[in-house]
Amino acid sequence: MLVFNNKAELQKHLAPLKRQKKTIGFVPTMGALHKGHLSLINRSLSENDVTVMSIFVNPTQFNNLEDLEKYPRTLESDVDKIQTLSNEVIVYAPSVNDIYGKNTESDHFSFDGLEDQMEGQHRPGHFDGVGTIVKKLFQITTADKAYFGEKDFQQLQIVKKLVEKEQLPTQIIGCPIFREESGLAMSSRNERLSTVSREKAAIIYQTLKEAKQQFSKSSAPEVIAFVKTTFEKHPEFTLEYFEIADEATLLPIETKDPQKDYRGFIAIFIDNIRLIDNISMK
Ligand code: PAJ
Repeated sequence: MLVFNNKAELQKHLAPLKRQKKTIGFVPTMGALHKGHLSLINRSLSENDVTVMSIFVNPTQFNNLEDLEKYPRTLESDVDKIQTLSNEVIVYAPSVNDIYGKNTESDHFSFDGLEDQMEGQHRPGHFDGVGTIVKKLFQITTADKAYFGEKDFQQLQIVKKLVEKEQLPTQIIGCPIFREESGLAMSSRNERLSTVSREKAAIIYQTLKEAKQQFSKSSAPEVIAFVKTTFEKHPEFTLEYFEIADEATLLPIETKDPQKDYRGFIAIFIDNIRLIDNISMK
C-alpha cells in the first residue's frame, strides 16, 4: 500500500492517473480511524478508480491547544486498518510543514451564515480552519469526489458551500452516520470514555430517536424541552445544545414548514468528553 508524507510525491503519483482520466475519490480524516471512517473509504472504492485518504491532524481547526495536543495520532494502526480493507487505497499523511509551510494561519471564509450556528458558536474559528485545510487537500489530491460523514452534518454543509462559492471541481458526497451496536455514533472520542459512560452514552441516540418521533406530533419547543428534561434526569451528562434546524440554512426552526427538511443536533458532555450527534426529523 502506498503511503505518502509529501505532497510533491503524491502529486507525481496522481498526475499520470489523472491524465488517463481515472477518477479520484478522496476521504479526508484526522486519523484514529474507526468503522465510520472505513465506511467512507468503502463508498469511495466503489465509486472511483483511485481512492486517496488523508490522515492529518489539522492545527488550524482546533480552538483549544490542549485538544490539539491530546488528539490521538495512531498512523501505524490506521494504515493497518486501511490495508485490511484494501491495499489499493493511497494514504497521504503529511507533516504540518508540508501542508502549511511557515504560514499556519487560516484563511477567512464566509459560508453564508452556516458557520455562525451550533458548532460555530462553540468553537470559534473552527470552520475557517476546516475550510482552509479542505481547500488545500482538494487542490493537492485533485479529487473528483470527496466523502464526508453526516456525523459532522454542519461541516458537510459548509464544505458543500465552500465548493459552490469557490467553484471547486470536486463533488461532495454525504455519507450516513455509522453507529456502534448501542446506537452511539462512532467517534475517535468514544475510546476516551470509561466503560460505564460508553454504555450510558447510548441514551444520546435513543433520545434523538424519541425526539424525532415526538416531532411528528408536537411543536419544536416541546421537543426541545423534552430533550433538556431527559438529560437533567441524568446528571452525568451536561447538555451544551440541542437544536432543531433547517438542514439547508442550519437556522433554528421557527414554525414548522412542510417544504423544509429539519434535523435535530446535539452536543453533550460526559466524562468531560464532548460528543456530537444528529438525526433527520423526516
Ligand atoms: P475526522 O473527525 O477524522 O472525520 C473524518 C470524516 O469521517 C468526516 O467526514 C466525518 O464526518 C466522518 N465520520 C466521523 N465519524 C463518523 C461516523 N460515525 N459515521 C460516518 N462518518 C463519520 O472531520 C474531520 O476529521 C476533519 O474536520 C477534516 C474534514 C478531516 C478536516 O481536517
